[in-house]
Amino acid sequence: MSEKKKILIIYAHPEPKSFNGALLNKAIEIFQNQEHEVKVSDLYEMNFQAVATKKDFTSLKNPEFFKMQLEQRQNNMIDEIKNEQKKVEWADLVIFIFPLWWSGVPAILKGWFDRVFYQWPKLYDQGVFKEKKSLLSVSTGAPRSLYTERGLNGNISKILYSITHGCLYFCGFQVLPTSYHYSVGQSEKTAEECLLSWEERLKNIFDEKPLNFNGLKDYGERGLSQGSVHQAVTKTGQIVAIKKVPIEEDIDSIIKEISIMKQCDHVRLVKYYDSYFLDNELWIVMEYCGGGSVADIIEFCEITFTEDQIASIVKSILEGLVYFHSQKKNPSGHQSRKRTFN
Ligand SMILES: Cc1cc2nc3c(=O)[nH]c(=O)nc-3n(C[C@H](O)[C@H](O)[C@H](O)COP(=O)(O)O)c2cc1C
Repeated sequence: MSEKKKILIIYAHPEPKSFNGALLNKAIEIFQNQEHEVKVSDLYEMNFQAVATKKDFTSLKNPEFFKMQLEQRQNNMIDEIKNEQKKVEWADLVIFIFPLWWSGVPAILKGWFDRVFYQWPKLYDQGVFKEKKSLLSVSTGAPRSLYTERGLNGNISKILYSITHGCLYFCGFQVLPTSYHYSVGQSEKTAEECLLSWEERLKNIFDEKPLNFNGLKDYGERGLSQGSVHQAVTKTGQIVAIKKVPIEEDIDSIIKEISIMKQCDHVRLVKYYDSYFLDNELWIVMEYCGGGSVADIIEFCEITFTEDQIASIVKSILEGLVYFHSQKKNPSGHQSRKRTFN
């Protein structure tokens, strides 16, 4: 017997007898047969409020100026919201069952995200829910062929990226590949065929691997870097850093950064080695600076710097700037000053 798990299903469809209703019933049946614990938030049945307002809080920290993120951090939400948050905290797996409406989730479900999730202090692969899995089940009116990369409606995984990545992975969830049920009973499979493959998938859902999204650690500078940064070893055994920048990003500023890095040679500046175009990315190979950024050191070591240490950091930065000015380069805005110090 496999380990007993806790599953929360967020169900967003107004009609229990619908195909989505059948997906919900099938999921409950499968998990209960496996003796897992199941909780359901049937949003229409609960009359869940879709619109986030001041009324979501029992008291306001700043009643003069309503700033939702500030208020959410006070943990003063009304019970309707707190109950949902507790269910999410309880669950090992959260499943969202909904129809695609106007290329997105029904408003009642969007409202659930707006009101229940908030910007917890840790995000993405370090997010508060990183031990939990999540899964979307989406039914569409249009057939699969319309939702391919070159199809009329566009790539459906990109359409739902705002949920899979922007909501779920943002809060730390391991996101399983979405279950798509295309044009059920019309141009695609029958409802029975869809329910059968849904059943087969759910039976072994806990063995599945999540989607491979880039983690915060790949982006340095608390995710602010323009592209992910990876450690690599050259054939001669030298450790280098490789920054991978998607070509569709602001490539002009990257090329400018490369041309500045190429001309610089100073102990306080990151050395540039080479760059390559690979598939849809530009790979920039440069000096590897272990230790991370100053902000990372403060956060991970949970320390504050002494005045001597701050003086040493500032001295290193100034040495880099003095070199820049002596070379008549413009250092503003680009990222190549070394952030570690000795
Ligand atoms: C308000 C609304 C918007 C819809 N928007 C889309 C859409 O953007 N793309 C699509 O493929 N189907 C769309 N549909 C069709 C539904 O996705 C489809 O009817 C539903 O997934 C079928 O499942 P059900 O029988 O459980 O309702 C929309 C339906 C409604 C009512």
